[in-house]
Amino acid sequence: MTREGEHGREAADHAGAVSRSEIEPLEAGRDAITRRAWRDAFDLLTQADASGLLEPHDLEALGEAAWWTGRLEDCIDARQRAYSAYVESGNSSRAAKVALTVAKDYYAIRASVGTSWLNRADRLLFDAAYAGTPPWDIGRPQSAFLRLAESGALRGRVLDVGCGTGEHALMAAALGLEATGIDASRSAIALAGRKAEDRGLAARFMVWDAFDLPALGVQFDTVLDSGLFHVFDNEDRARYIRSLRAAVVPDGRYFLLCFSDQVPGDVGPRRVSEDEIRESFSDGWEVLSIEGTTMDANFTPTGIPAWLSAIVRTAPAEGG
Ligand SMILES: C[S@@+](CC[C@H](N)C(=O)[O-])C[C@H]1O[C@@H](n2cnc3c(N)ncnc32)[C@H](O)[C@@H]1O
Repeated sequence: MTREGEHGREAADHAGAVSRSEIEPLEAGRDAITRRAWRDAFDLLTQADASGLLEPHDLEALGEAAWWTGRLEDCIDARQRAYSAYVESGNSSRAAKVALTVAKDYYAIRASVGTSWLNRADRLLFDAAYAGTPPWDIGRPQSAFLRLAESGALRGRVLDVGCGTGEHALMAAALGLEATGIDASRSAIALAGRKAEDRGLAARFMVWDAFDLPALGVQFDTVLDSGLFHVFDNEDRARYIRSLRAAVVPDGRYFLLCFSDQVPGDVGPRRVSEDEIRESFSDGWEVLSIEGTTMDANFTPTGIPAWLSAIVRTAPAEGG
């Protein structure tokens, strides 16, 4: 049984202990929702909520009823509770959907909070993708990074940022380097940890936010980024680079593999031009090289046009 099912059963158990008059508002509230009788639905579900009977989808419905009756604060409160219940039950895709709705609600009152809910939704959508095999999760290192490793370019402490299921951290660990992989997705990190165990490799994997690298309290000699930079919008790119800068030793190398602007169409991550890479790393970094290559993916035998950039951190540590 799913955690949500358990939640429902708990509600039912609880319902067993309460009177019929307490259960009726829940049933009538659900019925009012199907009729789009929002005011009745809000009153009835609020009553059922007081008896602790609402399942996550009822909380969503309560949020919807609150929205239609102009109660924005109640709406956000109900949706945030639905979000927490879905996260707790491991239902990432549903939690992401609710996070997107909460982001939209907040944009009406406080854009900055809306943005942080959008970020949560993005991360949960990545997490949900790992329930299957996402197109980038090829079960081996990217060929471009493998060539880099074979050329001896990796050294010292290695960070695989946005590591997914960990292939590049594991590649570094297999070379005897001290390797760490971080990713915002719990599912990805769990899969990476299992791979390390299966392969008998010592790599450290952690659920961590790429915007919060300084809090790791460690600096790295080499950072590998396969497919993270290109998921960020301009504002997040700048935040990410600030975070990255604090986590790389002076003279440390950041190797970036990202979609190039030669990728046709507009499905998938953002396309990145050479100029954008140079511009993004113009302060405190030196771009050593940007070479045209491809990114391997599960859906194409030929790969996707990409840039492999070698970038060195030149400036001293902040405050150092
Ligand atoms: C396109 S995938 C690439 C994964 C891996 N590097 C690979 O090559 O297979 C991008 C990864 O970045 C992670 N991610 C997205 N935003 C993040 C953030 N703010 N902090 C850490 N990881 C993040 C996602 O969960 C996802 O695993």
